[in-house]
Amino acid sequence: MAKVKKQFFCNNCGASSPKWVGKCPACNEWNTYVEEILVKGDKKEERRTWRDTNQRKAAPILIQEVKTGDTQRIVTTDEELNRVLGGGIVTGSLVLIGGQPGIGKSTLMLQIALQLSVKVLYVSGEESEEQIKMRTERIGMNNNQCYVMTETNTQNIFKHFKDLKPGVMVVDSIQTLSSPHLDSTPGSVSQIRECAGELQRLAKETNTPVFIIGHITKDGSIAGPKLLEHIVDTVLQFEGDHHHTYRILRTIKNRFGSTSEMGIYEMRGTGLEQISNPSELLLSQKEEELSGSAVAATIEGLRPMLIETQALVSTAVYGTPQRSATGFDLRRLSMLLAVLEKRCGFKFGMTDVFLNIAGGIKVDDPAIDLAIVSALISSLQDIAIPSDVCLAGEIGLSGEIRAVNRIDQRIREADRLGFKHIFISKYNVKGLDLDSFSIKIHAIGKVEELYEQLFS
Ligand code: TYD
Ligand code: MG
Repeated sequence: MAKVKKQFFCNNCGASSPKWVGKCPACNEWNTYVEEILVKGDKKEERRTWRDTNQRKAAPILIQEVKTGDTQRIVTTDEELNRVLGGGIVTGSLVLIGGQPGIGKSTLMLQIALQLSVKVLYVSGEESEEQIKMRTERIGMNNNQCYVMTETNTQNIFKHFKDLKPGVMVVDSIQTLSSPHLDSTPGSVSQIRECAGELQRLAKETNTPVFIIGHITKDGSIAGPKLLEHIVDTVLQFEGDHHHTYRILRTIKNRFGSTSEMGIYEMRGTGLEQISNPSELLLSQKEEELSGSAVAATIEGLRPMLIETQALVSTAVYGTPQRSATGFDLRRLSMLLAVLEKRCGFKFGMTDVFLNIAGGIKVDDPAIDLAIVSALISSLQDIAIPSDVCLAGEIGLSGEIRAVNRIDQRIREADRLGFKHIFISKYNVKGLDLDSFSIKIHAIGKVEELYEQLFS
């Protein structure tokens, strides 16, 4: 009889312990340990579930002699995916796509599976073959090399994998998989870890890229992709606002490329559409100039993007002024308000402040500060900023405007989109060939100078 073994696992980071502990020693979170029943096979060998018949023996070799031809990339027709993966799908890599339920992960992966020109196995534990077929019809794509299968048992998946020998495999989702070697329920910490480990071995030993879909819940209480991050090679996050149609695929971790990349899609009635020119969509098309809106020349990854920021400053009706920000860090907003108040004498103390980044997009680029400050002043004073002006600069604690990276790329993008004026830090001007742009460049050093030049 198999030996029943119980173990405690941290829901947050996946650490294990033979007895319950209140605070996880690995991630310092409280009350995250849950008990799970493990039934292990009699022999340890049995647990090595993915084995190739001609398994390679590991032996040390000289680094000069390692062949690099093995890591080829499959370049897909999806430019956004290529970009976030660092130039295509790396063979033998394990990629995790995380995101909240309903954001469009299954749609994205099915679309990619249908676009690939290699044999693909799409394994779903959530939908039946008919449901996948219905989705395919909705997307309006077809492919005679894409196989679908409803299966949750890893052993059966591996059996079919061996028979079919696909070039790429997609697993939707890791939470539904279960390994017969463990007795705990699908979605539990130990199952997720075991299944991911098995898929990892499969990917490495057969040199086949494997995509895993993983759900993240808002509170993170269910064992989720967090604990997978160190097992997989690449973590992509699919995010977006349910009320907006834009979806962003962001690189969180990538062993084969940069982590600052992002791809933008739009969820339409007929699937996800690549957005190759985001600036044109993220600038609102408005007829008249309204106060409280300013355009930032940002860079996400390697791609310049012009984004509209909107602020609304109004007198606080109730005692405590409200601050609210969508797509921007609230603490950073408080910092910018404090700088405006202390260094430049603008009074925000008794006002409500609402801030919004167009399109429901989250921006990490510090160069957006200058546009946010301008939008705030514009709304406070009710003076509109001309629609042919954009800004790029970081604000320091003493109200100075700091240089930002890749300024020439930002200016060129603004120029290309027909803007006439761009405000940048004076510390950014060095080395710039001002005559090569038709846009007028205003170099400023302090917020006061911005105010003088833009609002008076
Ligand atoms: P889905 O891929 O099932 O999300 P996930 O796998 O992340 O849970 O997609 C969910 C939403 O996408 C669903 O509410 C319907 C919408 N959708 C469209 O708007 N257009 C489409 O063409 C498709 C296939 C889905
Ligand atoms: Mg799904």
